[in-house]
Formats: sequence, C-alpha cells, structure tokens
Amino acid sequence: MKFGIRPLLVAITLTIGTAATAADKPFAEILRNAALANGLLPTKQLFVDTDQHLGAVGRAFFESKNLSLNGRIACRTCHLDAFGSGDGLPNAVGIFGAGEGPARAFSEGKIVPRNTLPLWGRGGRGFDVFFWDGKVDFSGQRPLSQFGADVPSPDPLLTAVHLPPVEIREMIDDDADLSRFKTESPDQAQRLYARILTRLVETERAAMDDLASSLDKPLAEIAFGDVARSIAAFIRMEFRLRDTAFHQFVFEDGQLSAEEIQGGLIFYGKGKCVNCHTGPYFSDLRFHAVPFPQLGFGKNGFGIDYGRFNVTFDPGDLYKFRTPPLINVALTAPYGHSGSLATLEEAVVAHFDPLRNIQTRTMGLLARHEYFKAIAAVGQEFKLIGLLNDQEVKRVTKFLHTLDFNHRQSE
Ligand code: HEC
Ligand code: HEC
Repeated sequence: MKFGIRPLLVAITLTIGTAATAADKPFAEILRNAALANGLLPTKQLFVDTDQHLGAVGRAFFESKNLSLNGRIACRTCHLDAFGSGDGLPNAVGIFGAGEGPARAFSEGKIVPRNTLPLWGRGGRGFDVFFWDGKVDFSGQRPLSQFGADVPSPDPLLTAVHLPPVEIREMIDDDADLSRFKTESPDQAQRLYARILTRLVETERAAMDDLASSLDKPLAEIAFGDVARSIAAFIRMEFRLRDTAFHQFVFEDGQLSAEEIQGGLIFYGKGKCVNCHTGPYFSDLRFHAVPFPQLGFGKNGFGIDYGRFNVTFDPGDLYKFRTPPLINVALTAPYGHSGSLATLEEAVVAHFDPLRNIQTRTMGLLARHEYFKAIAAVGQEFKLIGLLNDQEVKRVTKFLHTLDFNHRQSE
C-alpha cells in the first residue's frame, strides 16, 4: 500500500540557540507542515487489529529455542529488547552461537552476513516490503517471495516470519544432520516445517495446546503456518509503533528543543533525507544505492553484497538496499546492511561523503575495487542526497533521537 506522499523540500536559514523560543515558532510550524506533507501519521492509524490471545501464544514461540531444529536459537536470541529489537552486532551470529548481543561475536556461531533488522512497525498498515533486499515484496500487483506462487499468506509480515526458521546459518545448520536440505527451496522448506512442528509438539506442548485452543482446532490439525501466524500476531502487537516525541510535536502540540527543530528542518530540507526516508515509517520501502562500506564476508561472499540484485538479477539493482525505517534508530547501532558504521553521525555522513569513514589504503585490492563499484552504482541517485557540514550532521542526529520511544514505559 502506498500513502499519498507529496515530497516537500524546505530551504531555510536557521536560528541558532538551545531552547525553543517565540522566534522559533515559525520554524516549528514549517517543520510540522513538512512532516504532514511527507506522510507522517499518528501511530494509532497504522495499527492493524490483532487477536490478543494469538499474540500472547506467539510470544512463547518467538522466545523458544525449540523453533530451531537443534534447539539452540530463538527469534529472541537476535531480536532483543536491550538493542532496540536488534542484537547490537554488525553481522548477526546464527546457529551454534552462544550468549546474547555483542558477546555472540566471540562464540562459534555461523555468521549471517547482514545486520539484524529491528521489528518496529513491521506489522503496521502499509508495511509491505521486508528484509534489506526486499526478498519479501508485496508492494506490487503480485506478492513476491521465495515461495513463488505458493505464498503462505497475503499478509507480508506472516510470509516474512516463515523465512528465518528455514534460513541456513540463521536458524538451521548448513552441514551435518541437515545436509539433505542444503539447497533452499519451497519443497525443502515444507519438509523442514513438518520437522519443526513435530519438534514443537514434543517440546512445547503447553504452547501448542494454547495455540490449538486459540484457533479452535484440534492439535492434530495445527500446521507450521499456524505457529507462524501466532508469531506474526506477537510481532504486530509487541513492536507496534507508539508515538515518539516527534509525533507528539506534530500532532499534540508537544515541544522540541530549538536544536531538534533545526535538525528536523535539515532532515526535510537541505539534507534531502526525506527523498527516501519518507512516509509514516521514515522509509519509502524502495531500494537505493547509498554507498555504505561492506563489513564481513557479505551475502555474495568475498566481502561482497549485491543487495537488491540478489532478488531481481537486474544489473540496475546492484548494491541497492531497502531504505531503513528510522523509528527508534538511535537504539539499533551499528548501522547499515552490514553494520559497518558504528554511530548515527557516521551513518549520516556515509551518504554524502562515503570515503570519510574508511581507510581505502589498508583495504585489500578486491575490497577496494568492489567499494568503488558500489560508489559508481549510486550514479544519478547522488543528486537525491544533500551535502551537510559537521554542525548540520550533529543537528540532524539530534532530530533522529526524537524518533525514539521507550516501548516498555508506554505500555
Ligand atoms: C541469527 C539471528 C536471527 C535470528 C535467530 C532471527 N533473526 Fe530476524 N533478522 C535477522 C537478520 C540478520 C535480519 C536481516 C536479514 C536480511 O534482511 O537479509 C532479520 C530480519 C528479520 C525480519 C525483517 C524485518 C524487516 O525490516 O524487513 C523479520 C520480520 C524477522 N527478522 C523476524 C524474525 C523471526 C520471527 C525470527 C524467529 C522465527 C527471527 N527473525 C530470527 C537476524 C535474526
Ligand atoms: C537516496 C535515498 C536516501 C537518502 C536521500 C537518505 N538516505 Fe539514509 N539510507 C538510505 C539507504 C538505502 C540506507 C541503507 C544503506 C545500506 O545499508 O547500505 C540508509 C541508511 C540510513 C541510516 C542507517 C539506518 C540503519 O538502521 O542502519 C540512517 C541513520 C540514515 N540513513 C539517515 C539518513 C539521513 C539523516 C539522511 C539525510 C541527511 C538520509 N539518510 C538520506 C537511503 C537514503
């Protein structure tokens, strides 16, 4: 679903100061209007009605390591409250890992060559493109996913939830006992789902009985899709968007500091951030080549991640990634598809001055060559990105902090 979005770029000279004063009032008004013109909505309007009982059952499965065949990893292992529903690692550490958060980097886990995405708003209205490369994409006429014509559900979140449990390295092993399932295909996924279901009946009997009763079905008729439905219901409830300080500023006359307002005007104006980070989730849910450096071995190996190209095989999509939504972004460092940027400031700078944060001389030849290709892929899109000085970067970062909410306090 697309929201009616009118891009509006305000060019403005800013007043300097710390506390918002009467002189800042016109700027506050311009910022409110810019947010509205670019599709910001009160978060309640994004909420999709969800069966509470089913969501409560889903929590048990989200937190259960028995959802993985070797019983060692749960959704929760990587999607942690302490890291804003991510894991604080550059690349996720999957099957055979130990511990939580950054401690996993020192365990024997298989590296999943992407930065863990947070889950905020992923069950909300209109959120229809999932994963860094959009491998689940319901934004067009036909829903696109690895499942082809046998898409598990018209609900994109529910379809996305089907993938982690059968994703090699993430929740299943790629050798040993599972070598038979080595190639990922819909048929093999179905066989794996059957095995996971048998395992859940053996190990999570109480939750399975609960699931059966909440769906009013006998246990024998419960399928893996029902478990996934409950997890999707849980994500939809638990990680729904709540109003941030910025929402309160726009919709309820809440206050922001002068610096936050200035940062907001840079976001909607000179920084041109809203060319891509637009709409109620601060993402157009489309794909752009923004030349963030690569960290780790990459989805395509040898330190390479072709991004969207992996899904479409269209050379025009090389190095493109889905614009990340920005709600709670201050909680989810490190940044980018491979977590290569440690701070928000670095992430903002990397858009318009890609070489500032990296040492090209110490990179290997292949890595440097690949990185120049990624920069070249930006092409004409570079004009979508604004150029900021250090003070402006600082201010826009202050603004990004107004997009946080503490979901525990707002229960
Ligand atoms: C090993 C760590 C790990 C585990 C375990 C894990 N995830 Fe994730 N999750 C990730 C990573 C990494 C990504 C980004 C992958 C990508 O886009 O290529 C992600 C992305 C997602 C997304 C897409 C979010 C978006 O913005 O598009 C959803 C939904 C999700 N995970 C749900 C789950 C569920 C449900 C489970 C359990 C069944 C789970 N994850 C288990 C690491 C993990
Ligand atoms: C041309 C579209 C585009 C524009 C303009 C743009 N961004 Fe981005 N932004 C992206 C994409 C795509 C990524 C992810 C790149 C990657 O991971 O390789 C990203 C990543 C980010 C991240 C890291 C988020 C995360 O969760 O990892 C932040 C923060 C961010 N942008 C803020 C901004 C700000 C602030 C501006 C304006 C100064 C801006 N962006 C302008 C497309 C854009």
